[in-house]
Amino acid sequence: MTLEAIQALDRSDPLAAKREEFVIPEGLVYLDGNSLGLLPRAVPGHLEKVVQQQWGHDLIRSWNLHGWVELPLQVGAKIARLIGAEADEVVAADSTSVNLFKVLLAALRLRPNRRIIVSDIDNFPTDLYIAQGVSRLLGGYELRFVQKDQIEAALDQQTAVLMLTEVDYRTGYLYDMARLTRLAHEKGALVIWDLAHSAGAFPVHLNQHRVDFAVGCGYKYLNGGPGAPAFLFVARQHQRAAFPFLSGWMGHQAPFAFVPEYVAAEDIRRLTVGTPSVLSMSALDAALEVFANVDMEVVRQKSLQLTGLFIELMEPLAARYGFELVTPTLHTRRGSQVSYRHPQGYPVMQALISQGVVGDFRAPDIVRFGFAPLYLRFVDVWYAVNRLEQVMRQDLWKDPRFSQRAKVT
Ligand SMILES: Cc1ncc(COP(=O)(O)O)c(C=O)c1O
Repeated sequence: MTLEAIQALDRSDPLAAKREEFVIPEGLVYLDGNSLGLLPRAVPGHLEKVVQQQWGHDLIRSWNLHGWVELPLQVGAKIARLIGAEADEVVAADSTSVNLFKVLLAALRLRPNRRIIVSDIDNFPTDLYIAQGVSRLLGGYELRFVQKDQIEAALDQQTAVLMLTEVDYRTGYLYDMARLTRLAHEKGALVIWDLAHSAGAFPVHLNQHRVDFAVGCGYKYLNGGPGAPAFLFVARQHQRAAFPFLSGWMGHQAPFAFVPEYVAAEDIRRLTVGTPSVLSMSALDAALEVFANVDMEVVRQKSLQLTGLFIELMEPLAARYGFELVTPTLHTRRGSQVSYRHPQGYPVMQALISQGVVGDFRAPDIVRFGFAPLYLRFVDVWYAVNRLEQVMRQDLWKDPRFSQRAKVT
């Protein structure tokens, strides 16, 4: 595709104006919104108000006056719209890892006679680690962590929970949520989906697919900022039965009654634990406003066009310099990222970043490019491939400083 044709795509992009709602450093092509989303322009002003007026001036009164206490539900409701849930089925709280711990314990309790947790061996490690911790805590569970093509066969009448991340963080492989949820249910198991790489990237249909539980991140495609609160979803049918084993006062039926005995709230609040982190919750709350008038189907169309264009433009480069595409080309199986395996992936990515194109690296040998449709242009894709071509043609990656491993890759 020619540069002129690519520029024409930007001119007819229905999401083009959204880019203006983000802070984008001059000259930077940011292909890491799947790890940490850009800063929405509305956030600094809102935080300034929350800090100066609400915290600085109104102080403790702000819990009621400015609705601090409602923030987890308010933010949850905004996220619910993006993931096919009802407003009162989602709450923002804690981190994805902690939320997974909470919903996994709740789900296992709903299947007391079953002892198997099924997951993908390539699932994001925190998901597998949480399952290991839960299994140690409870004792007597089998963790059936298998390859993707073995998942269906791994489900049986003893499976308590199927626990998957919808988009593989390394390869960008997109699971068939409808099919796997149905197969798990046919065996009598419950499902938990991790939406870390889904929420805000494309439409998710939790209720349409009758999903039981879900968790996800606030700092990736939702642009809530570093360490933003995560979210969790509990289908309405499970809400009264999902026991909150991390039974903190914020999940109590009446937190301000200060009674000694724990009684869980009847709604989704029961899965919150302690005082919400108001500042980061406020940042996420303001960040989510960029989605207010956005049709997620349009976001999906653009995402597929962006990733498709990247794969197409990369083809000659991949062949010449040994980049092996590990992301499915099939639209129905592709999330919003594109990844390649390359033996020198780490220094190649560092060299590319030094050229103003930011992606990231995932061990052992994956270079990863995330495509956030709200702020990326088609010319950015063209530019990124051009820069990578330069990095390879001029051997820029061979500079020893690019091989020094940083703590965060
Ligand atoms: C699939 C998935 N789950 C969870 C996490 C992180 O969880 P936490 O927010 O608890 O650090 C990530 C982070 O990249 C992820 O990719």
